[in-house]
Amino acid sequence: MSNKKIAIYPGSFDPLTNGHVDVIERALEIFDEVIVAVLHNPSKKSLFSSAERVEMIKQSMNGLTPVKVDTFDGLLVEYARMKKATAVIRGMRAISDFENEFQMALMNRKLNKDIQSVFLMTGLRWIFTSSSIIKEAAQFGGDISDMVPEPVHLKLMEKFPKLNS
Ligand code: PNS
Repeated sequence: MSNKKIAIYPGSFDPLTNGHVDVIERALEIFDEVIVAVLHNPSKKSLFSSAERVEMIKQSMNGLTPVKVDTFDGLLVEYARMKKATAVIRGMRAISDFENEFQMALMNRKLNKDIQSVFLMTGLRWIFTSSSIIKEAAQFGGDISDMVPEPVHLKLMEKFPKLNS
């Protein structure tokens, strides 16, 4: 039996930001493999399709082998169990993240006590970074090039022509 420590890093990733990348890098210090799991939820409005989000993450990870990218739907803990993961990673920025994360972690523990929630603090530089604030700025042509990996920046420029000007 393999002793590989696998963690799931779930999220919407609409799109991936440098804050997410920072969390992935930190998770790799602890786990042998990190599966970045994009929530596939067609009823939730998103800028990018789940296939586009997966592709952007793969390109941004540049073939980094301990990182796998996948989509999931349904219960996160079910997906984690199927992947033989022992932990779920979530990034923490500010106190405002806490309440929702706490609630989610306790629900996940109730559903499967064998899967631990691990919270990683993002680097200070990314404390104010979120996918939604980046989309908001990009939509109106705001320069967000230092907040997302290059493949994401290129896709945002395709979606928002104002970013090119
Ligand atoms: O990036 P997000 O939108 O904050 O990620 C939220 C996500 C995908 C981690 C969360 O919505 C989730 O786990 N959804 C799957 C459904 C589930 O398992 N819900 C029960 C736990 S509350």
